Amino acid sequence: MKVQNICCIGAGYVGGPTMAVIAKKCPDIKVTVVDINQERIAAWNDENVDNIPVYEPGLSAVVAEARGRNLFFSTDVDKAIDEAEMIFISVNTPTKTYGEGKGQAADLKWIELCARQIARVAKGDKIVVEKSTLPVRTASTLKDILTHTGDGLSFQILSNPEFLAEGTAVEDLMDPDRVLIGGDQTPEGLNAIQALVDVYARWVPKDKILTTNVWSSELSKLTANAYLAQRVSSINSLSELCEFTEADINEVARAIGTDSRIGPKFLKASVGFGGSCFQKDILNLVYISRSYGLNEVADYWEQVIIMNDHQKRRFAKKIIKNLYNTVSGKKIAFLGWAFKKDTNDTRESAAIYVADHLLNEQSFIETYDPKVKKEQVYTDLDYLGSRSSEENRKNLTVGTDPYKVCEGAHAVAVLTEWDEFKTYDWKRIYDGMLKPAHVFDGRNILDKEALRSIGFQVHAIGTAD
Ligand code: NAD
Ligand code: UGA
Repeated sequence: MKVQNICCIGAGYVGGPTMAVIAKKCPDIKVTVVDINQERIAAWNDENVDNIPVYEPGLSAVVAEARGRNLFFSTDVDKAIDEAEMIFISVNTPTKTYGEGKGQAADLKWIELCARQIARVAKGDKIVVEKSTLPVRTASTLKDILTHTGDGLSFQILSNPEFLAEGTAVEDLMDPDRVLIGGDQTPEGLNAIQALVDVYARWVPKDKILTTNVWSSELSKLTANAYLAQRVSSINSLSELCEFTEADINEVARAIGTDSRIGPKFLKASVGFGGSCFQKDILNLVYISRSYGLNEVADYWEQVIIMNDHQKRRFAKKIIKNLYNTVSGKKIAFLGWAFKKDTNDTRESAAIYVADHLLNEQSFIETYDPKVKKEQVYTDLDYLGSRSSEENRKNLTVGTDPYKVCEGAHAVAVLTEWDEFKTYDWKRIYDGMLKPAHVFDGRNILDKEALRSIGFQVHAIGTAD
């Protein structure tokens, strides 16, 4: 079967870039991305392609090329479902904030709504593709909903999890390490798998397209994230030990990373991992394991989260300790608010939690991030509910000029590894600050020796200073 019409429900950080790249690579397939969020769709359709809602290097060029040709963004979900032979579900699956499984289980209400909408609208057979990250066995729920309300139509459910990382989404989509497609091992299921393989095979080498049963695919996505996050928590746990022993975490990371069995990537000690997925996916893995009575398995993975919370708290405490055990009334400048560089996404960013801790100690914070909008910073803080939004606006301000943001500060804290922070005129920053002037480098990106020779007191992650 040759796919001619694709619909993707969910125009977020995954749906938008993924469909833009499919449309670029398959000009003969019509790709329609739909969302219930009108503002988001309007932004994807903005005449000025620099105003699209997701910032990713290279993305605006891909959108500019395909939009209006075979890539469309719309709020008419029913029409897009009706037209498509293949429907990707790429909606959000956050941690539940209520009821059974609150704080751990994935909230699947948006997924279920999509399934019900597909069942209601579909007039012909469809291939439904799970693009969202889902608990293992979700495909059986989807199948249940689709076949019980779908007027005897035939639905094939595929699992095709996305492995792109934000900040490198376009690169990851154009040249992925692998594409994973899971489906039923029946003749109909294998046909559906083949239809999706044929889409990716336009630009991904065949040996990088892995096909599995649907459960392996669902579980592999959760576990890939758990493994990655576990590496960050492992190196972060050692960063604390380094600070007590005069070992240097950068040297340790290099030494262990050159072992080809360990590998050099994902060994950067930091203020803690953030992002919308690591925490939620591990919590989900913990919840699933516990629901099968596998307490040791659950405890093992939960430790990755416990370590990460500790690392964020530890960074805030380090600032307080070095500012003579009080930050009350002191100004601290934050460089970076996004959860990593090259993205405007702030979900679960370490900066939010470090700021919250310092605000509880009555410090005053001014932040600067090259891509994050002011309102987003306040939304993130208000969401925690630690204090009123008036207080958040009074005690934290958001600047647009990094030099001004650092002026009059007791300390500068680097929360995101944006490249531009390395190239600042640090002498100028030093001259504008109160003395002693402290730098807390939560990403180990600055040249410590150069800063020290200017006069800064420098505190990095995983070194004894
Ligand atoms: P997102 O919040 O950026 O986007 C989800 C979009 O779905 C939103 O715009 C929302 O309005 C829309 N939506 C929700 N319910 C809808 C409905 N019933 N009909 C139409 N639209 C609806 O989320 P995201 O970051 O793109 O993540 C989506 C999924 O992909 C999640 O399961 C996530 O775990 C997974 N994932 C994310 C990343 C990442 O880097 N962000 C990477 C891999 C996988
Ligand atoms: C991660 C995975 O890398 C993707 O493969 C996956 O598709 C995605 O989650 C998802 O499912 O959402 P992402 O969260 O976008 O991607 O970004 P990462 O590069 O993985 O970084 C996550 C966090 O870990 C960031 O806060 C980053 O700063 C931190 N990190 C990463 C470190 O602190 N040290 C490292 O060495 C690497």
